[in-house]
Formats: sequence, structure tokens, C-alpha cells
Amino acid sequence: MTFEEAKKKLADFGQEHVLKYYDELSEDEKKALLEQIDQTDFAVLENCKHRGEAGKRGKFEPLAAMQLSEIEAKKDEYTKVGIETIKAGKVAACLLAGGMGTRLGSDDPKGMYNIGITKDVYIFQRIIENLLDTVKAADNTYIHLFIMTSEKNHEKTTQFLKEHNYFGYPEDKITFFKQDMAPASDYNGKVYMEEKGRISTSPNGNAGWFSSMLKAGLGDVLHKEGIEWIDIFAVDNVLQRIADPCFVGATVVNSVSVGAKVVKKAAPNEGVGVMCLEDGKPSIVEYYELSQEMMDAKDENGDPAYNYGVILNYLFHEPELEEIAARALPLHVVEKKIPYLDENGNLVKPEEPNGCKFEQLVLDMIHELKSCLPYEVVREHEFAPIKNKTGKDSVESARELCKKNNIEL
Ligand code: UTP
Repeated sequence: MTFEEAKKKLADFGQEHVLKYYDELSEDEKKALLEQIDQTDFAVLENCKHRGEAGKRGKFEPLAAMQLSEIEAKKDEYTKVGIETIKAGKVAACLLAGGMGTRLGSDDPKGMYNIGITKDVYIFQRIIENLLDTVKAADNTYIHLFIMTSEKNHEKTTQFLKEHNYFGYPEDKITFFKQDMAPASDYNGKVYMEEKGRISTSPNGNAGWFSSMLKAGLGDVLHKEGIEWIDIFAVDNVLQRIADPCFVGATVVNSVSVGAKVVKKAAPNEGVGVMCLEDGKPSIVEYYELSQEMMDAKDENGDPAYNYGVILNYLFHEPELEEIAARALPLHVVEKKIPYLDENGNLVKPEEPNGCKFEQLVLDMIHELKSCLPYEVVREHEFAPIKNKTGKDSVESARELCKKNNIEL
């Protein structure tokens, strides 16, 4: 893109300030900025106007979860099918590690965070150790581990894992790919600059994982290896069970498009997304969207009908993901702390949210699919998310839960 073309594009979207420092840049920096302007979709910034507005939702109905007692009764059958499916090479795992972890406030990728007390225990290490449990259960079948990073954390992530010898996972069973980025702006939709020659960007949300995988040419790998199921999971849950045979078996036996791990809500108004049906299709209703009527609704056993929260661990049927891959997903505007250049060209790292990022979320992917099996897991054994430094869902709370599960830290 030429300078004149860039100027025109920016003017069309009211973003002329992007070229403020253009004359100070080196030739290479100028070229890079023009390229970034060319590739940036400034149309997403319009969404800032709809910040805080609830998206239009359909008709909600409860979706019964497969509860612990039912899983226990069929455990042997499900585990057998799960192990067969894993041993046949049909299952892969995908670690979503493209996020910025702004709430935790570390400059490094979240997975590099050391939660150890008497020794080093990195979040990535906990994840790999958990995955190795599945490998062992399936007679040492190493499942293909895909790791999604973003351009912000790719180098550090790959270097760190290499230095630690992938915590014992074979290198040839790990494939990294980068997710797409979206511009980040102030509350009026003006993009921030992170350098004089660079528009501020952030990863475009965790639903970007499958399209980014295909973009990276990994569709061929999935086909060549005969991968039919992909377990995606968040980097920050240090008790995460990954592609565990019983979960895989339950999803396969019930022939659903996606299996979703869920936990029983701790309280009716707990801040987790709840699995449900929306206009007859699987969906997730956010806690703040639950009406009093929905909170009071009961299932046939007299238990709350909207009672199971998602924990960002899903087993997707790969062919159905390909069917929906081309569909556009809604963009969510999220308020975050975005580092930016102030009017004097100095980098500011804000302490409080100062603008908008634009993300596509996995929950919207689920809604595109035909069917979903909410699969209950025991919260204390499988859910120890690290979002914050202290308090709820923090390093402290995750350490407590690790202790309860006899994990040495
Ligand atoms: P979160 O929603 O907790 O976001 O991600 P985050 O970026 O890690 O943290 P905050 O909100 O800035 O503090 C849930 C999971 O989705 C991944 C994260 O890495 C984490 O595993 N994720 C999130 C991505 O892979 N890409 C994204 O664009 C966003």
C-alpha cells in the first residue's frame, strides 16, 4: 500500500492520527506501518459504539447435563471407547494460549507463570503433566498437541517450552500456530498506537483458534493424521484434565458435535456462563443474562434447571468445525488495559481499563453447532483457573486447590 492509499483508508475511518510520526520512521518502519494499515480491518472499531449493550438473544431453554452419577454408571464403557479413540490417533488437543493475561499483570505469557512454592512449577508444566496422564492411560499414545499463541507472545512461549524440553512431551507431537490480531482502540473507536510506527493490536479472541489453524495450513495435518476430535482448553486452569478417556468416550458414544465440560454452579448468581439451548441450538447464557424466572426454573428432579457452568474445555467433532468454519461470528467488545503512546510519544501502561478490544468467543462457535453434551466434572478436581493475582480465581486459590489434589508445589 502506498502512503497516499494509506492516508485515504485512514481518513475513511477517521484514523488519521496513525500517521502522526510517519516522518520520524526509518524506511523499514514506514514500510511495516503501511503494510499494517493495509491489513487492518478498521471497520471493527464501529463496534465501540455498542459497548456494554447486550447482544440480541433468542429463546433460552435448559439443556440437561450428563451428571456425575450417570457418568459413574457408564464409566467403564466410556473409558474403553475413549481409550480406543485416542489409540486410533483420532484425538488431538489444542491449548489456547494466545491471550494477554492482562488481569494477572505479568509481562510474560501466562503459561510461564511459576506457581511453585518449594520448587518451580510453571503453568505450562502443570498442563503438560495433566496431558501426560491421558498419554499414560492410553498405553503411551502421545496425542498431537497444538498450541495457539499470538504475535505478542509467540517467541517467548516457543523459547520457554523449548528451554524446558517441553516438560517431557515429544517435540514432534507439538505444533504451534499464531492466531489473528485485531486493532485496539480508545472508547471512541480511535486506534491506539503501541509504537510510533505500529498500531496497537491484540489477539482477536479465543474463537479464532480453528480459522487460525486452517490459515496456518494445519487442516492438511488434521486430515493426514485422521484427527476427528479436538479438545480445546484454556491455559490458565492448572487442574485441567485434557482429552481424558471418559470424557472422550462420552462425547463419541453420544455422537454430539461437541462435548463441554461443566461444573455445578456454586451459587445461582455465580459469574460463569451456563450451558443451555437458545432457539433450539446449544448455547451459553452469561450469568448477567439469567432472568429471575430462569434462576428459579427447576428440572425434573427439582434441581435448578440452569445449573452448570462452562470451564472452557470442549471436545469438538472436527468435520463439523469445517462445516461452520466460513461462518462469521459476532464480535464482542471487551474493556481492557491497553498500553499506548501518549500525545508526547511516551509509552503508557495503564493501571485501569482504558479502551476496547474486539474478540470472537468460543461460545458463539458452540451455537453454530447442532448438538452439545454438557459433561459434569468435579470442580475441586478439575477447575483451578488463574485469572487474577490475588483473591478469586487467583494464584492463591489455584495453589489451595492443587494442595487438595496432592500436587506438590
Ligand atoms: P481470558 O478470557 O481469560 O483472557 O482467556 P486472557 O487474555 O488470558 O486474560 P485477561 O482477560 O487479559 O486477563 C481464556 C483463555 O482463552 C485464551 C487465553 O490464553 C486463555 O487460555 N485466549 C483468549 C486466546 O487464546 N486468545 C485470545 O484472543 C483470548
